[in-house]
Amino acid sequence: MKAIDAKERLIVALDLPTVEEAKRLVRHLDGLVSFFKIGLELQLVAGLDFVKWLIQDEKKVFLDYKYFDVEETIRRAVAQVAAIGVNFLTVHGSGGIIRAAVEGRGQSELKLLAVTVLTSLDALDIRDLGFECAVEDLVLYRARKAMEAGCDGVITSGHEARAIRELAKDRLLIVTPGIRPEGATRNEHKRSVTPTQAIQAGADYLVVGRPIRDAKDHRMAAEQILVDMQSAFERRQRL
Ligand code: C5P
Repeated sequence: MKAIDAKERLIVALDLPTVEEAKRLVRHLDGLVSFFKIGLELQLVAGLDFVKWLIQDEKKVFLDYKYFDVEETIRRAVAQVAAIGVNFLTVHGSGGIIRAAVEGRGQSELKLLAVTVLTSLDALDIRDLGFECAVEDLVLYRARKAMEAGCDGVITSGHEARAIRELAKDRLLIVTPGIRPEGATRNEHKRSVTPTQAIQAGADYLVVGRPIRDAKDHRMAAEQILVDMQSAFERRQRL
């Protein structure tokens, strides 16, 4: 089995207010990180030009736009994203919405990731949303629906990654945000895990924002996470 290279599996969230700051962070991490996530904060100001800048620089791009809309709109919007050459896109919702996204991406390389339950939510929060069940049950239900609808992967906390891996085997990519290195502040994440725990549980990709963005030395923070990821992948592959 080919060894997994942690550098291909770390996605850094560019949660920054300007393109200049985002480019600066990308350059700081040159040679270490080649996969970047654009989310709601940067979305409006970055636009297509920034996405193209990343792609031309041979970076991989994850648009975390959490698409949720009527099927026709989803199909057409996803087709636009696929045509640009983006690698990952998040979608939300029912089987019909996800199937529309799958149709929209057609034969392109774009991978569609379904949001399960945000890592910042716990049992009380999902009750507040109207779900009278355990977080893990909702995560697994949504993962199963996403898989049946032809989705490529899911966004899930490290807490549920193992159960999803058992459910899906290799049929779903598991992308895990809410990562906090040992001893780091958890911020709002109620279901955070360390890089090592996430990979031990079966995650394929980790999404890291503040622990790298807010570090005094961005490279050093990324390097430490990559070291932990690499040894966790190697231990996992030996099992
Ligand atoms: O700064 P932090 O490492 O917490 O960043 C996590 C990133 O992942 C943020 O961009 C957030 O929008 C995203 N996220 C997500 N789904 C979750 C938790 C975080 O997409 N369940």
